[in-house]
Amino acid sequence: MWRISPRCLLVSCLLFPSISGVFSSMHVILSSIELFSIHELLSPKPTIYFSCQGEKKIILPDLKEKHFLYKFKGVESWQPLVELPDKKCKRCGFYELDHVKSDDVFDEWELCPDEFHEGIYVYFKEKEFNATFKCSDCTDSVGSANPNPSVDKKLNLTMAILVGVLTSLVTSAAIFGLFKYWQKRKREQNHARFLKLFDEGDDIDDELEL
Ligand SMILES: *[C@@H]1O[C@H](CO)[C@@H](O)[C@H](O)[C@H]1NC(C)=O
Repeated sequence: MWRISPRCLLVSCLLFPSISGVFSSMHVILSSIELFSIHELLSPKPTIYFSCQGEKKIILPDLKEKHFLYKFKGVESWQPLVELPDKKCKRCGFYELDHVKSDDVFDEWELCPDEFHEGIYVYFKEKEFNATFKCSDCTDSVGSANPNPSVDKKLNLTMAILVGVLTSLVTSAAIFGLFKYWQKRKREQNHARFLKLFDEGDDIDDELEL
């Protein structure tokens, strides 16, 4: 009866990562950026920041010059740049702090997890910047086996039910097996006791014959 359980374990191993994948959020890292223009002409050192709608400003302290390719390891103090909720986009942008007027906008666009191909996404805005983002958990619909998220979730639910049914089946089988084993043992014990009685009976007969 225990031969079933390793397979059951395997199913849960396959199932649990997909369940956690549904709820996890995806960290987007800025891997490189090159600025093609600086808006603030008066200030010698511009302050460039990244921000998504309704979220805090992430100041990029290293960015001071245009036409220089800044590369990042992904572990800088201000990383990750943003966290994307499951399969949803966020409206984000690169800005430059302006002390007189409102901040200058390099560009503002929809940052979507499905734009990442093999975890990498390049966003290029003419005359403004060229940025490369990394996100190891983001997936594009081409790479994933199932482009439809609702089908994906339905599949997960079906898997969960299947595992539930399998688990209860195995448990019932185990209990039934134990009961059968106990019954067999009991029968054997009774049989042994009966034989013993029979032997003792023989002994008495022998004694009587003598
Ligand atoms: C943008 O940057 C990426 C990575 O550095 C590079 O491969 C790509 O050619 C660049 N694109 C432009 C238009 O500069």
